[in-house]
Amino acid sequence: MKTNYYRLSLMAVLGFGLLLASCSKDDDEETVVVPEEYVATDASFMNFSTWTLGAEPMGADPSLGPAHGGNDSTAIRSIYFKDNAKPVNGKYAIGSVVVKYSHNPAGTLNEYTAMVKRGNGFDLANGDWEYIMLSGDGKIAVDANGMAMRGDGPTMMGGMCLSCHTKAGSSDYIFTSR
Ligand code: HEC
Repeated sequence: MKTNYYRLSLMAVLGFGLLLASCSKDDDEETVVVPEEYVATDASFMNFSTWTLGAEPMGADPSLGPAHGGNDSTAIRSIYFKDNAKPVNGKYAIGSVVVKYSHNPAGTLNEYTAMVKRGNGFDLANGDWEYIMLSGDGKIAVDANGMAMRGDGPTMMGGMCLSCHTKAGSSDYIFTSR
């Protein structure tokens, strides 16, 4: 009985020593785990019209209202997925970029919108997407106050983008089926 107790405590001491050793070893090798984040720049949207055309709905769409040229019977809404991004287990990977170019043959409709999977808890409640407006040259648009037109679901244009895209919540906020 006594021996057993001695053995047990010896094992405990040894075990503790090993634990300490492994801790200090970990300390040496420790890498701070930062959740992955993708912050889009102008370059993220370069040559978007050469990406995978995921869908191209046309014509007026009353459910859109004026958004995405929904009130234009001649509208063409070209939806491009960078690197042929597709959801895996229902979710898009961080760094996924989708551009929607709404245009018409007369050239009176030219609207470029984008969604970028930013990650890192950027907007955890709404799928960590960043909503972005692009200008005609494919760069991130700047508003009259010089502010980049980008933001998370609740803040971008006062939550306007999210108010619709939340309806596609079950497909990771992307309407176009992939
Ligand atoms: C009135 C509803 C509505 C609003 C507001 C809206 N969207 Fe959309 N969006 C849609 C629908 C519906 C689609 C699917 C394609 C279609 O029907 O034209 C879509 C498609 C997209 C796509 C292509 C990916 C996908 O979901 O299929 C992007 C990118 C996009 N929208 C960005 C934006 C951004 C950025 C804003 C805000 C500036 C915005 N949307 C506001 C309804 C909306």
